[in-house]
Amino acid sequence: MDLIIAKDYEEMSRAGADIFADLLRNDPSAVLGLATGSTPIGLYQSLVADCDAGRISFADVTTFNLDEYCQLPVTDVNSYRYFMDHNLFDKVDIDPAHVHLPNGNAPDREAECLQYEDAIARAGGIDIQLLGLGHNGHIGFNEPASDFPVITHVVDLTPSTIDANARFFDSEDDVPKQAITMGIGTIMKARRIVLLASGEGKADIVARSAFGPVMPSVPASVLQLHPNVTVIVDEAAAAALPRA
Ligand code: GLP
Repeated sequence: MDLIIAKDYEEMSRAGADIFADLLRNDPSAVLGLATGSTPIGLYQSLVADCDAGRISFADVTTFNLDEYCQLPVTDVNSYRYFMDHNLFDKVDIDPAHVHLPNGNAPDREAECLQYEDAIARAGGIDIQLLGLGHNGHIGFNEPASDFPVITHVVDLTPSTIDANARFFDSEDDVPKQAITMGIGTIMKARRIVLLASGEGKADIVARSAFGPVMPSVPASVLQLHPNVTVIVDEAAAAALPRA
């Protein structure tokens, strides 16, 4: 696991964006795994700026997002589809046909999960997966559990995740209680993983994820077993890391 400690959120975002931009220059038809949440917004802004300046293009890129809420219209401002359109897809030259998010409104959710997993495989797998980090160690929406879920699946969100995400909704009651998420196995199959974390509120879970025991009650700890992971944190999120 490579660890980069950036000065602040801006430096963290630029460092993460540089990894994606380098990949796109070397492989313009790369398959990107993308994430939502407040953490990656700066990275997306940097990539939009790179695309505007002609340094990178998304024309041949394929994307798969980690997760999507269930039973929330994609037009809702809190849907992850809306987030991605607003923060990246509408601002770059990506082909909308190459964009994939799980369909949280699919009538048959189990079939949707299998179809999503299959679509990733047919695209040749994910070259680079971007991750944020939940306060309880979740990645995508893989919540602390008694085992590591392997493939894309429907998940019941934990009260702590519902509480954390309530800030985006009018009230906690409006936060969807379920989501479809890539599994831990899906994420671990990505050829490279970049995890971003920012702010002192993430310091404890960053330390437990990167240096604590690997266990499903801290889902991100599984990343210690992946051969090509870069963790980029700002100084605040690095505060609880062992000094050495
Ligand atoms: C949500 C997303 C995760 C994200 C997490 C952290 O739960 N499903 O993919 O990593 O939020 O969000 P933030 O970056 O806002 O702290």
